[in-house]
Amino acid sequence: MGSSKGENSSQYGGSIPVENVQSLASKNLIEIPPRYLRGEYESEELLDDEALEIPVIDMHKFAVGPSEYKSELEKLHLACKDWGFFQMINHGALEEIEKMKAVTEEFFKLPLEEKMVSAQLPHSIEGYGQAFVHSDDQKLDWADMLFLLPRPSSNKNTEIWPKAPPSFRPALEEYSEKMHELSIKLLRLMAENLKVEPESLVSKFDPDGGQGVRMNYYPPCTEANKVLGLTPHSDSIGLTLLIQVNDVEGLQIRKSRKWLPIKPIAGAIVVNIGDILEVFSNGEYSSIEHRAVVNNVKERLSIAAFHSPHIDTDIAPLPELVQDNSPKYKTIRHIDFIRLVLGSHLDGKSILDYLKL
Ligand code: OGA
Ligand code: NI
Repeated sequence: MGSSKGENSSQYGGSIPVENVQSLASKNLIEIPPRYLRGEYESEELLDDEALEIPVIDMHKFAVGPSEYKSELEKLHLACKDWGFFQMINHGALEEIEKMKAVTEEFFKLPLEEKMVSAQLPHSIEGYGQAFVHSDDQKLDWADMLFLLPRPSSNKNTEIWPKAPPSFRPALEEYSEKMHELSIKLLRLMAENLKVEPESLVSKFDPDGGQGVRMNYYPPCTEANKVLGLTPHSDSIGLTLLIQVNDVEGLQIRKSRKWLPIKPIAGAIVVNIGDILEVFSNGEYSSIEHRAVVNNVKERLSIAAFHSPHIDTDIAPLPELVQDNSPKYKTIRHIDFIRLVLGSHLDGKSILDYLKL
């Protein structure tokens, strides 16, 4: 992109700094400040069906033999089309995940001043703070986060990465590498399912695609059902790989106009299709709205790794997919797409609605 390191993430725009939620929550407040009260979502119902769960994709099956490969590939295709979400098991990343979980927990346990060493700088999206706050009266999420951009390496800005714990940096580096690898593996399988040349999809993400890692910290809230940990949104990137750090549930996805709570399998990675992959697939795959709720007594932590195409990639349906069908989305430059995302409130699927033809 031809600019110096510090400018790369700052050129995208930032967020208004707001109070640290972890320290707010530790004050044992009698009343939750009004900016966190989300009455607008109170009427939304949970989808209370124990039998309904997102598909589980077993990566081991792809290495067993042709018939297992074929049936798991079909399962993956349906997961991407009908759910936009699945849990991935036997992914071979357990070691990296355990290390990443440990350093994330240690980071959020540090005293506030030490965490603030990695505080978001003005006009930047990287660092410790909150995201998508653009006005002083906007409702706020009951969470803090640490967002870092490990890839592409030319954009990596380790100055803002936590120095404590000392193992943070190597753990994130290994984690980043492993999640990138897994995302490419999945994209290759998805390309096969979409019947496009694998390289036509994979080359957009590898080797120079972007990767953001967002570590979410949701403090407990005495009025847990009146606040939201994360506003309903779809991920405005290609592919998200999310892990639960502790055993507190909170992720819910939009299903049949209700909210379906996700029950994470221990060690699994929750994968979801982002807006950009919905566009690349010309709508064959869906980027599903989701949100996070908080617990009334326990803190919850999660880590999302977001994978994006190279910055010079146009966001448009893959040419192979619009030979026989008309494009369902407008073409937009990636940089303009990012500006649109960062200038918006985190708000349902508004960006996709704007791009739909
Ligand atoms: C996200 C996200 C859900 C969770 O970070 O984009 O959707 O469970 N997180 O924390
Ligand atoms: Ni998300």
